[in-house]
Amino acid sequence: MFACMSRIDALIRRMTLTEKLGQLTMSASTELVTGPVLAGDLAAEVGSGAVGNVLNVHGAERVRRLQRMAVEESRLGIPLLVGLDVIHGYRTLFPVGLAEASAFDVELWARSAREAAREASHAGIAMTFAPMLDVARDPRWGRSVEGPGEDPWVAARLAEAKVRGFQGEDLAAGESLAAVAKHYCAYGAVTAGREYASADLSERTLLEVHLPAFAAAVAAGVAAVMPAFIDLAGVPMTANAPLLRGRLRERLGFQGLLISDYNSIGELIQHGVAADLVEAAALALQAGIDVDMMAGAYRHGLPAALQRGLVSMTLIDEAVRRVLTLKERLGLFDDPYRRGRGAEAPASLAGRRELARRDAARCIVMLKNRNATLPLASTVQRLALVGPLADAPGQMRGSWWAAAEELEQVSVLAGLRAALPRAQLQHASGVAIEDEGTAGIVPALRACQDAEAIILCVGEGALMSGEAASRAHLDLPGQQRALSEAVFQQAGERGTPVIVVLFSGRPLAVPWLAERADALLAAWFPGSEAGHAIADLLTGRRSPTARTPVSWPRALGQVPIFYAQRPSGRPPVADTAYASRYLDVPNEPLYAFGHGLTYGQFVLSNLRVTPASASLADTIEVRVDVVNEGARAAEETVFLFIHDVLASVARPAMELKGWSRIELSPGERGTVCLPLPARELCFLGAQLEPVFEPGQIELLVGPSADRSQLLVERIRLIADA
Ligand code: NOJ
Repeated sequence: MFACMSRIDALIRRMTLTEKLGQLTMSASTELVTGPVLAGDLAAEVGSGAVGNVLNVHGAERVRRLQRMAVEESRLGIPLLVGLDVIHGYRTLFPVGLAEASAFDVELWARSAREAAREASHAGIAMTFAPMLDVARDPRWGRSVEGPGEDPWVAARLAEAKVRGFQGEDLAAGESLAAVAKHYCAYGAVTAGREYASADLSERTLLEVHLPAFAAAVAAGVAAVMPAFIDLAGVPMTANAPLLRGRLRERLGFQGLLISDYNSIGELIQHGVAADLVEAAALALQAGIDVDMMAGAYRHGLPAALQRGLVSMTLIDEAVRRVLTLKERLGLFDDPYRRGRGAEAPASLAGRRELARRDAARCIVMLKNRNATLPLASTVQRLALVGPLADAPGQMRGSWWAAAEELEQVSVLAGLRAALPRAQLQHASGVAIEDEGTAGIVPALRACQDAEAIILCVGEGALMSGEAASRAHLDLPGQQRALSEAVFQQAGERGTPVIVVLFSGRPLAVPWLAERADALLAAWFPGSEAGHAIADLLTGRRSPTARTPVSWPRALGQVPIFYAQRPSGRPPVADTAYASRYLDVPNEPLYAFGHGLTYGQFVLSNLRVTPASASLADTIEVRVDVVNEGARAAEETVFLFIHDVLASVARPAMELKGWSRIELSPGERGTVCLPLPARELCFLGAQLEPVFEPGQIELLVGPSADRSQLLVERIRLIADA
């Protein structure tokens, strides 16, 4: 540690201002473009020390070439930090964030991050701009696809697992990446779900909903944090000293690197809080941002800011020290070429694909299965596969794909062909994802004519969610509804079951589709092994296990929609007037948070809670019996929610505090145990400080946030003696 400190101190002492600002700068190559501005001649700038960090360069050879320029040509030989958006995989893609959240599986979350880190580090990458931790309750916001869904407790567990997975036990190891928790914070709360718009929310919501995941990432040792593009009640996050220096560094104890989002320091001018790049750079540095990604504001603005007295050299040195410390922790000073050394063994790649297939099957939610339509009977001979997403390998990737080539992805068609080599598979896309043409509907109906079952693959294109992909409609785009209606109509006349595989980066508002489908799978975007994983579920090789981490609206007017709403003073009790309800749709979502079917049939009973009263230091044991009354082995997920019945501040109707899974054969019984530390029942009191209030707590246990399906017990909280 002392040696490393002195190396960094010695370096800082030798650095010119230009070299310091180079270390505070991250520039992109044009190989991969992830933002609206482009950088200049990267190679020359790296060689001169004017740029000390890069993004969007990948591939062992290319990275090594640039690294050599930094190490051998720049005056001080400080190694480069190379970052990339390794969001849900590098070359092998795992399911998108929202899909992974559906797995409710901490080990899966950590494992896929570890595998992505291994693969990306072999391509020279040292930092990933992940995990994305923004709680999203408004599906209009396209970035819902990248994140943990609507629940802060899920988001916090995901944060811990991802940091562990990406960073491993030793950040300096050649297969570890520095993780970047993003986008701090409340990005998901943008007005009307519109990308890059302003957010304005209470401090309570900020602390209770949007911050816990970042606090969890910090506690797990995340190397870096990226502030969101947006402003929060008028203060852009990139210049938000109270939330960056105050909350993140001082209150949460974050000592790592703060890296701006793409050009967001420059955008302080558009926000209307900085007159020019000089002021923008000064505001960001004062707020605590160490690295300027793609604005060139630090390089070009900080010299003048120093002269104008807006910032001090001490502030610049502090930021430089944090950059160098991270480079040191990554082992870059000891061996700058540690990552990107040699290709991986083919066996590792094959094993990773196998893992991606298993994980993808665990991330696809079966929302409906009327009359046990699924799994397909083993006797099925003639299948029709229609819809624009049936043979769309590139779309399976979702909105980020790093080095994953389109044709390396498995489409549904390819997956089904491999799974059912003897079946007759008629395929027609019918319509395009977004175009208005309908000429393909007739051929698609023809393909369905003699089928014993129809698989209808519809939904959004991969780039209809993700960054800059907000939507004002949550229906199927293009003419997909026309195609679907025509298929349902013909299938209805012939008694052919229709299985809908729905691809999307958000929950859609498609009650008509859910109503007409015999079975409905929310596939999200499953990644490289999509087709195999979907075939595994359709054929019953695997039973679905996933649960939706977001509520599915019936109508756009219900959004933002989430289960943890506060009770109204005028609840929607049946037949009462002046109640908190819509005139035209029920308040309830179409599918509740946590909903998801399996091929088993589970019944929960005998909820018991001990002790009957608990104080702060106790752990409450919650147990429930589960029996599989179905005909197939399957895995059930059991959720634990709480409700503080009477508190000094109105508490949400339910809050998630845990989940557990149990695998049972037909007829088998088991018991699920959900430990609940009583300190989890603290909440932020009227002064926004944690309080533990004596009184009644409801514990609600069951398969989803649909209250009608939950078993309920109460315990009493007591003050410490
Ligand atoms: C902008 C996005 O908001 C962020 O998530 C991403 O990491 C950067 N671009 C870099 O590509």
